Amino acid sequence: MTSAAQEHESKAYPPSPEFTATANAGPELQAAADADRLGFWDEQAKRLDWAEPWTEVLDWSNAPFAKWFVGGKLNVAYNCVDRHVEAGNGDRVAIHFEGEPGDSRSLTYNDLLAEVSRAANTFTELGLVAGDRVAIYMPMIPEAIVTMLACARLGLTHSVVFGGFSSSALRSRIDDAQAKLLVTVDGQWRRGQAAPLKNAADEAVADAKSIEHVLVVARTGIDVEWTEGRDLWWHETVEKASPEHEAQPFDSEHPLFILYTSGTTGKPKGIIHSSGGYLTQASYTHHYVFDHKPGKDVYWCTADIGWVTGHSYIVYGPLSNGVTQVVYEGTPNSPNEHRHFEIIEKYGVSIYYTAPTLIRTFMKWGREIPDAHDLSSIRLLGSVGEPINPEAWRWYREVIGADSAPIVDTWWQTETGAIMISPLPGITATKPGSAMAPLPGISAKIVDDEATPLGAGGNGYLVLDQPWPAMLRGIWGDEQRYRETYWSRYAEQGWYFAGDGARYDDDGALWVLGRVDDVMNVSGHRISTSEVESALVSHPSIAEAAVVGAADETTGQGIVAFVILREHVENTGDTLIKELRDHVAVEISPIAKPRQITVVPELPKTRSGKIMRRLLRDVAEGRELGDTSTLVDPAVFDAIRGK
Ligand code: PRX
Repeated sequence: MTSAAQEHESKAYPPSPEFTATANAGPELQAAADADRLGFWDEQAKRLDWAEPWTEVLDWSNAPFAKWFVGGKLNVAYNCVDRHVEAGNGDRVAIHFEGEPGDSRSLTYNDLLAEVSRAANTFTELGLVAGDRVAIYMPMIPEAIVTMLACARLGLTHSVVFGGFSSSALRSRIDDAQAKLLVTVDGQWRRGQAAPLKNAADEAVADAKSIEHVLVVARTGIDVEWTEGRDLWWHETVEKASPEHEAQPFDSEHPLFILYTSGTTGKPKGIIHSSGGYLTQASYTHHYVFDHKPGKDVYWCTADIGWVTGHSYIVYGPLSNGVTQVVYEGTPNSPNEHRHFEIIEKYGVSIYYTAPTLIRTFMKWGREIPDAHDLSSIRLLGSVGEPINPEAWRWYREVIGADSAPIVDTWWQTETGAIMISPLPGITATKPGSAMAPLPGISAKIVDDEATPLGAGGNGYLVLDQPWPAMLRGIWGDEQRYRETYWSRYAEQGWYFAGDGARYDDDGALWVLGRVDDVMNVSGHRISTSEVESALVSHPSIAEAAVVGAADETTGQGIVAFVILREHVENTGDTLIKELRDHVAVEISPIAKPRQITVVPELPKTRSGKIMRRLLRDVAEGRELGDTSTLVDPAVFDAIRGK
């Protein structure tokens, strides 16, 4: 590390006394967790309303399959909606919805309860029963959140598929989970245009045998194809259903949702989350990490419900705490770069949670844009999805946070379900770029290959050495893969392997360094190298492909592909490259489009035939080559670099 970087590391930002005075978190939190970890979680679970109490906090006897709050029963939607109405807060706004074209509407908790009940009645009428799976393929509109909550209310396990994914990505997720219902929209607004979505949904379900109905919200009013008997309009069903519905409790371990995420192979993993443990930790972290004050704060998490951040920090965590939040449908530069700041100003957003990639984009657009707005309502800022570079951290605090708002850099994963490592506002003196320390109740270690814990300065692997309430309960339909992916590396110790590198600095602050496997992080989205490789080789011109993530100033990593053409395929230069990029967009999603594709005569391989991605990363990032001694043919690089 350079001395400049060291200097950056050492400057800490302590909380202001004013913030500390009213902070939700106090030092007693850590003390309680240290004294009795399970007792601590027992207390946190009591922040929720349970229909039946649990008999045991944690059953880890069948590790790595955990049971939390054993025997307890609750309804997740009741906790997120009904209980706030029953407590007399029915008139509080739950969601300030801001549509991309400029339309807006606010839903109170009374409204939300009526909507969720209507949707639950409709789903029941369609014959769905607890345990069935529902696929959701929607943009960021209130109906998407209503659908998730209606599923939770009925014990239906939802699988949200990001609206930017292609029909083939949707299809494979529907098939894997055997979803019976698909909820979608006619189209979605994107940069002022109505972009069709139902056509992709139609393609995905054309011969998906499990799907019985497709429920469609008319968001844009564009024309759609219609399959009688299968397709239903939301406004002709849900909106006409009764707004009365009584929620039934479900077992604490009842599967709340499946969310697919990229792994190191081409096939995405369906991560399973539970009800009681998941909601306990999502709710606890939202309350303390964001210092959320119900009825006072206006909270805005800019994620999409297609990702875990949207699940835990738009839907379940915040709503369980009776939040008033902004939900925005569109992109940050539609119709222009002022959009987010206008929204902050309009609603008086006080807590703003976003990804480093967007902060770096704001930096590129220039500070005069946020400076043109009154952002004085902001009192806390959050970051998630990738390491935040210290420069972006400081800019975020200074320009968006008036040089005073604490920043919570939150480390977690789809698999962890909720925040694991983060500063606690009002307590932690933060360092730009560091996620600081595991939260009270969470235990993590940084270890080497031999499972030896590392001290300050040593780069190692991040492991979670104790089970936690929101932990994944498995991979849908693939127990073996669950064991292998997360629990085999440190099987002897029984530790969860997170797949991230990390280190402690001299002050004991924890720095997450990024993935150590073949998973890329592009704009905070996890994309596996082999998924993009499979998409490329499914193109008729491509014989072989190798994909690496290369450092990118804005997106964190950019996707760089090296491809070998099939024999007799003509290299048409830019035309071919464009065709390949578009092909990846169709196969996976536009977010997986390689930034750069280079046609090469050969790929660097070890004697056992493994592609040496490390060396390709060196090439992609313009570095001197690392150790090439295990290559079959070191001269291959001259060809790759076109020498
Ligand atoms: O590499 C870490 C990175 O994102 C991965 C998890 O990605 P995903 O499951 O898509 O969830 C993203 C939202 C929680 C992690 O393995 N990551 C996430 N947050 C941080 C981070 N890396 C560094 N610092 C963070 N705050």
